[in-house]
Amino acid sequence: MRSNPTNATLAWRIKPLIHALALAPFALLVYRLLGGTLGFNPVEDLTRETGIWSLRFLLLCLAITPLRTLTGLYWLTRLRRMLGLYAFFYGLCHFVVYFLWDQSLDLARVLDDILERPYITVGAAALGLMVPLAVTSTRALRRRLRRHWNRLHRLIYPIGGLVLLHYFWLTRADYREPAVYAVIFVLLLGLRLGSMSRRRSWAPTKRQRRRNRVVGDESE
Ligand code: HEM
Repeated sequence: MRSNPTNATLAWRIKPLIHALALAPFALLVYRLLGGTLGFNPVEDLTRETGIWSLRFLLLCLAITPLRTLTGLYWLTRLRRMLGLYAFFYGLCHFVVYFLWDQSLDLARVLDDILERPYITVGAAALGLMVPLAVTSTRALRRRLRRHWNRLHRLIYPIGGLVLLHYFWLTRADYREPAVYAVIFVLLLGLRLGSMSRRRSWAPTKRQRRRNRVVGDESE
């Protein structure tokens, strides 16, 4: 993305608000936990809330590029990394709750669960795939990895698919809520694939690229 001071300033101004909004569900959960105002099964509440917030941030992160294209608000791109990291943060909290309270810190039990329960297997795969994205999310690594970074970060789509599979698999009766998230995901995926194929049809040939010395794709 071509950066200009207006984009940077707008993103810089809005970031504290996004941090406050993103941390509010976490703060509320801690408050309810300490105050004993969670439901009849607090561990289930904590697991479900952290899981759903992780999925919401994942979808918000995926929505940034289509939103930027639709609105022309280029500074939105600067919020993408932050939203992705919050998806990872809530995913980690989700796992910590499960590991700490559900499995009583018993690693062998966790491994058995991952091997034996398919919905846990796909959840673990999703979280595992989020790790390299979080680790390489810094600007320095993005610059260093260039095109490989873009390829690596497309993993966010298979991750989204795995999380939805996890959600559908664990749902026993009412599929309406996971279905709403699945529709949003499919829409975002469709927009992404559409813009990728449009960009490919406009892309310069190898020879033109060599001639123009176009390297990498900073606008991803
Ligand atoms: C090792 C990784 C993971 C484990 C062990 C795990 C485990 C669980 C468990 C035990 C539940 C509750 C099941 C129930 O109440 O019947 C759950 C629900 C859920 N998890 Fe995970 N999960 C993992 C990864 C993830 C990730 C990475 C995400 C999102 C990015 C996610 C999103 C969700 C969602 C959306 C729900 C349902 C929430 C609801 O019912 O409102 N999970 N997970």
